[in-house]
Amino acid sequence: DKEGHKHFMAKEIAEQPTVIAEAIRAYLPSGSDEVRLPGEGLDFGQVDRLTMVACGTAYFACLTAKYWFEQLARIPVEVDIASEFRYREPPIPDRTVALFVSQSGETADTLAALRYCEGKADKIVSVVNVPESSIARESQLALEIHAGVEIGVASTKAFTCQLSVLLMLALKAAQDRGTLTPEQIADHLSALRGLPALLNAALDQEDAIRTAAQKLSEARDVLFLGRGAMYPLAHEGALKLKEISYIHAEAYASGELKHGPIALIDKHMPVVVMAPRDALFDKSISNMQEVMARKGKVLLISDDDGIAEAQDGVWSTVRMPHAHPSLTPILYAVPAQLLAYHTAVAKGTDVDQPRNLAKSVTVE
Ligand code: M6R
Repeated sequence: DKEGHKHFMAKEIAEQPTVIAEAIRAYLPSGSDEVRLPGEGLDFGQVDRLTMVACGTAYFACLTAKYWFEQLARIPVEVDIASEFRYREPPIPDRTVALFVSQSGETADTLAALRYCEGKADKIVSVVNVPESSIARESQLALEIHAGVEIGVASTKAFTCQLSVLLMLALKAAQDRGTLTPEQIADHLSALRGLPALLNAALDQEDAIRTAAQKLSEARDVLFLGRGAMYPLAHEGALKLKEISYIHAEAYASGELKHGPIALIDKHMPVVVMAPRDALFDKSISNMQEVMARKGKVLLISDDDGIAEAQDGVWSTVRMPHAHPSLTPILYAVPAQLLAYHTAVAKGTDVDQPRNLAKSVTVE
């Protein structure tokens, strides 16, 4: 049941404030001043290293979480694509936690990577949407993301629920390792409790995003740029656009622009810049100006302060609410999803069943 929406994808995008509120409640009960894990849980005080493995959108969730685990909990993190990891057979040092992220819990490569880690990693943890799935059953600790059934082939609410659970896990790691003060943890947790309201405010920008998408639907290629945790999100935005609109899209770390992709920029090339007004903002904006100097068309996604400072000469803007820096990768997923969605609708593609794709990739 699409509940009045034209597509399951639209319904699943709109559900995000509700399902994320549920995911947050599951690990951060109301009134609690710390993150709690089910069962025996996990003591990050005993962990020296985290290896995260996944495919597709779940892989980009892992890449985003790397920033959180490193910055908040000071844990070295490696992130791998499951199909590479399983055949590379990397050494797994002592005191490593292996973490597998999968919406379906049945992705063949991710499951094979998990099996490779059995007996080698100190603990096998998964972040899954389907609790009775193979990946959940075969891990020692399965953390549910509480997204509810996801039908659209392009993953949306599962991605942001994965991110929310991973952020809480990183905060748990910071608690265990004492890398943040109790006040800092409290600050993060109170920001997190405000996330559903921020997501609603992001969803309110749908009209502006639809207008931008109409213009984007005429492009042949689109570039997504971001810095810090916005960089993996740029990848996710590009993947969503490719999957459902069939427009070629690529993501680059803004700082890499000069090292090659700037050669592509001309008046036909829309460039989506995801840049909240954070510590890296000035750097991102200077990259954005390099794009505009070569007549690239910039779609800037930022907050009020960012847009006020940097909107001169940009092609289009999308306004996000101001948010705590740890939340922006989750929040900015919404305009990335809506941009892909409305571009696909403008092109008339089959949004929920894009060509050549399956919801769950259970064979190699
Ligand atoms: O079920 P999983 O999370 O393991 O699936 C991984 C990928 O196949 C999946 O995220 C895929 O990239 C989606 N179509 C992305 O929208």
